[in-house]
Amino acid sequence: MSAPQREPAGEVAVPRHFLDLRDLPPATLRRIVDTARVMKGERRSRRPSEGPRPLSGQTLGLMLEKPSTRTRVSFEVAMRQLGGDVVVLSPRDMQLGRGESIADTGRVLSRFLDALVLRTDSAAKLRELAAHASIPVINGLTGGSHPVQLLADILTFEEHRGPIAGRTVAWCGAGNNVAASWIEAAMRFGFTLRLATPPDLRPQPAVLEWAGRQGGAGRIELLDDPRIAVRDAACVVTDTWTSMSDDPAEGRHARLEAFRVDAALMAGAAPDSLFMHCLPAHRGEEVTDEVIEGRWSVVFDEAENRLHAQKALLAWALGGADWVRASTGTAPGTGG
Ligand code: CP
Ligand code: NVA
Repeated sequence: MSAPQREPAGEVAVPRHFLDLRDLPPATLRRIVDTARVMKGERRSRRPSEGPRPLSGQTLGLMLEKPSTRTRVSFEVAMRQLGGDVVVLSPRDMQLGRGESIADTGRVLSRFLDALVLRTDSAAKLRELAAHASIPVINGLTGGSHPVQLLADILTFEEHRGPIAGRTVAWCGAGNNVAASWIEAAMRFGFTLRLATPPDLRPQPAVLEWAGRQGGAGRIELLDDPRIAVRDAACVVTDTWTSMSDDPAEGRHARLEAFRVDAALMAGAAPDSLFMHCLPAHRGEEVTDEVIEGRWSVVFDEAENRLHAQKALLAWALGGADWVRASTGTAPGTGG
């Protein structure tokens, strides 16, 4: 794989928000993933106390309106490993819960913090925060998307199977927030994504329409039959049948039974197919134990890669022009 690519000058506005993959040029996303891979390698060859501290003196706020294990811990550890500090904010305990606007909250927090992660049901609330914050705002999951997850997922696929461009990934299950970010990733990283979902649980029309307007090598295929979707796929992905923002409507799970990823379904994928899941998993629902514990599964690498991908993301958002050099000792675009 090549060294981190040079980012197109002037294409990313300041502050460097990370709200959705569609907002960033492919070269920037490629560079973040490649930097994450370098950082992961560097980390393994160094003692934890060694290494550069490019974000020393900077503070990240983590504002989580929904439960989280991976996002919270990986952002906290990422910021600390880069030399920065973290403040965890519970919106329930903030004046936000008593009616202070998200716009004023963003303006005030920008005076204390250097970047802010928000996990919330509402994509509109995230965009409103970003519109009023003068610091980078990062999407830590909304009901509509989960882009930080995809940085880790692309890193995971590529460290196991090489470049994802031109490959085929199959999504089986509900067309949810993570599926929407996989759709954006397919268009940004240039791979084919086949989505097998019940007809009434397809991804939101807006993300499909966005994908339809993009050029490039990415392709989206919507299917009803998971067995057709996984045929010869290099990776099979699923997620919970009921996301945090979903209405657990009666009958939802019954409609998803046919989309469970089991060993019989994996047998139809490529012989060396990976299985991925952002976690938390509901074993026996969207995936069987046999698959998540089987030879296909890279789910714990995927979870670990949240840390490495978000270190690269924070370095990009906060580090300025020298972010790769400062974070990894590697000069951008030279491989040196
Ligand atoms: N995958 C993921 O975002 O996990 P958490 O909900 O635990 O943060
Ligand atoms: N789709 C899941 C992802 C959890 C990380 C949810 O939104 O609950």
